[in-house]
Parts: sequence; structure tokens; C-alpha cells
Amino acid sequence: MAAAPTPLLDVELVRRDFPILERIIHGQPLAYLDSASTAQKPQQMLAAVTRFYSTSNANVHRGVYTLGVESTDAFEGARDAVARLLNARSRREVIFTRNTTEAINLVAKTYGLQHCGPGDIIVSTVLEHHANIVPWQVLAQATGATLRFLDCDDAGVLQLDALDGIAREGNVRIVAVTHQSNTLGVRPPLAQLVAWAHAQDAIVLLDAAQTVPNRPVDVQALGVDFLAFSGHKTLGPTGIGALWGREELLAGLEPFLTGGEMIRSVRLERTAWNTLPWKFEAGTPAFAEAVGLHAAIDYLEGVGLTAIDAHEQAITEYALARLQEVPKLRIIGPTSADLRGGVVSFVLDDVHPHDIAEILDRHAVCVRAGHHCTQPLIERLGLPATVRASFYLYTTTDEIDRLIVGLLDVRRIMGV
Ligand SMILES: Cc1ncc(COP(=O)(O)O)c(C=O)c1O
Repeated sequence: MAAAPTPLLDVELVRRDFPILERIIHGQPLAYLDSASTAQKPQQMLAAVTRFYSTSNANVHRGVYTLGVESTDAFEGARDAVARLLNARSRREVIFTRNTTEAINLVAKTYGLQHCGPGDIIVSTVLEHHANIVPWQVLAQATGATLRFLDCDDAGVLQLDALDGIAREGNVRIVAVTHQSNTLGVRPPLAQLVAWAHAQDAIVLLDAAQTVPNRPVDVQALGVDFLAFSGHKTLGPTGIGALWGREELLAGLEPFLTGGEMIRSVRLERTAWNTLPWKFEAGTPAFAEAVGLHAAIDYLEGVGLTAIDAHEQAITEYALARLQEVPKLRIIGPTSADLRGGVVSFVLDDVHPHDIAEILDRHAVCVRAGHHCTQPLIERLGLPATVRASFYLYTTTDEIDRLIVGLLDVRRIMGV
């Protein structure tokens, strides 16, 4: 079976931009199928960071000298790029964080602490990454609010019929949900959840770590209130991510971290906070990383997020079909490429996923094995762990074929 070619994306041309894809491991070309963990980097992004450090490095928002102005312009230019990428109404709505995790913690520790108390309810789902569970657990403990999780069925479909019962238990304040599961690839019915949350006067935080990298994400069209994503999954450097939040909500919040940069004026007895977005950016920000993220966003927009989405969809369809040819292999989650993204979890008979990943590594095929930071979901599905293959704009059908060859080798070696 051949994957339908993606008309708008020339994958071989794209691959030439990613130096790491030339690596040979155990005598074979790298087949990197772990982009849901972190994405590989295009040379345009690497060059932008090197160029910045080589020519314009100086701390931001301080120097009146040329380098400092250049550096500040580059940093703030990155904010404009994120605002454009997400279709934010204003650049003031974009707060740089270290990653998705920090962005969600920021909301929990500011909006959450200010708005939740006994009798209030925070709703999340069993599909979530730990980053979208633990901050809400801590918030519930700190405030006396109740944390409720929407369950899913064996295919990862959320059971929304529990919502009305949850609403009767108290005041729903926050609904924190993933845009796409990093373990099953399923996408929750966001429009329905947003409508329900807003009918309860609750806000919606969207964990978009798995979608900002690979498809157009428009915060205004989605109607959510906060959105978090990570730069390192979006072709950018580590150490930078962003929180987008509706300006009227951000304006009413107390700061997250305090110190330099986030202040307007400091007296020994009292401090006045800076305006948005800097009120939430204490200390020297990751400005060189922001420059890298800007270059990554330019790269993604140059290739086209619609084309990347279509490519991932085609690769996922191909992978789902080919994986089903492997005897005793069970795909966890939906086996159709509709309403899911380029992440496929599976188990192979009773072979431990770590053994599978280790044997695949001998074929230079990189997959992740374990609970993928979604321990409650893996337990809910009654599994010890899964193998997860995940795809991106540089993934080829040839790499999927090599995954299949590797899996047949697993069967041979493990005798299943
Ligand atoms: C859905 C989802 N949410 C949150 C995270 C956490 O991202 P980070 O570790 O970059 O903060 C990840 C990372 O795998 C993820 O896939």
C-alpha cells in the first residue's frame, strides 16, 4: 500500500533542512519516530540562534546601546511571531515560558489561586499529560476545590455524558483539556467542551503541546481562554514555550514569579508590576531561544501548517494500515486517521514495550516506550506501557516501512 502523496509538501526537500536526519546509527540511517517527545531542528533555526549569539547578543530591555536594542527587537519580534502563529488579538497576550508545563503552572498558580475555593470544581480528563494533571491536583489541595476527570472509553473517546452531573456538584471554574493526546493521538471534542465550560462560566485551558507544531491553531476561532505550547516540539530550541491568554483575564491576575523585568518600579516597601506581557516574565528571559523559536515559526509557516497537517494525516493513515499487517500487534486508540493526529501507540503480544524499543533501536528506529507521562491513561487502559511512534513533517513512508521490518524482527527475536 502506498501513502497518498501530500500535494503541498515535498518531504525530501524538507528533510535536507534537518542535519540530524543524516545520522547513521548502528550502520543504518536514522528513522526518528519520536517527534511527539521533541522535534528535530532545521538548519534555519540553528543558524538563527548561532547568528544571534555571534552578532547581537546582549541582555534585553536594558541596554540603550545598539546590541541591546537589536537583542530586544529580536526578542519582541519573536513574540509577534507567536501572536501571529496563534492569531492572538494582541502581542500582550503572549507570555514566554520555559515550556508547556510552566505555562500550565502559571495559570494554576495565578488564575487558579485567585478564582478557586471550596465548592468549586476543576475539570480535566483522563487523557491528559501529567503537565495538565499535577498542577490542578496541587491547586485543588491548596484551595479546597474539587478536581474531576472525564473518563474515556478504550479508544480514548471522552465520555461527555458525565458533564451535567459534574456541573451539579458545584461551580465549575476551570476546564483543562488537551488538544490532542500525546499517547493515543485522539483529539477531544473541543468545541463541545468549550461551549459547556462557558455555559458554566468556567474558563478553558487548552494544552496545545501536540497541535501548535503541526496544524493551524487559531485561538480566536477555538474560543479557549488560555493555551500552552512548547518551543522544542515546534522545531524550536528547548527552554522556551508560551502561554497565550485572553488579555482581560491576564490583566486581572497577580504575577506568577517575581523579581527583575516584571516590575514597573520597586521601592523597598512596595513594588508596582509591569504591564502585559512582561508582568509574567520575571528575570532574564530565554531571548536567544526566542530568536530560535521565531526562526522555527518562520520555517513552519514557510512550509505551511495546512500542508504539514495533511502530510501527517497521510503518514498516519499509512502507518495505521501497515501496523495492522503485523500479527499480534494491537493499536491502542482509534485505527482510523480521522479525528486523530500523528501519534500511534501499540502493544505487541506480551512483549514489554522497552524490549521492543530496544530492538527497534538496533534498526536505528527511534520510538518511545513507557507511559509517555500519561500514567493515569495507561492505567485506565489496563496496560503496563505502550510503544509510541510519532510523526512530523519530515517523516517518510520509508521510515514507517523500516518500523514494520523492525517489528517483524521483534517477533522473531522474542518468539511471538
Ligand atoms: C500533550 C502534552 N502536554 C504537555 C507536555 C509537556 O511538555 P513540556 O515537557 O515541553 O513542558 C507534553 C510533552 O510531551 C505533551 O505531549
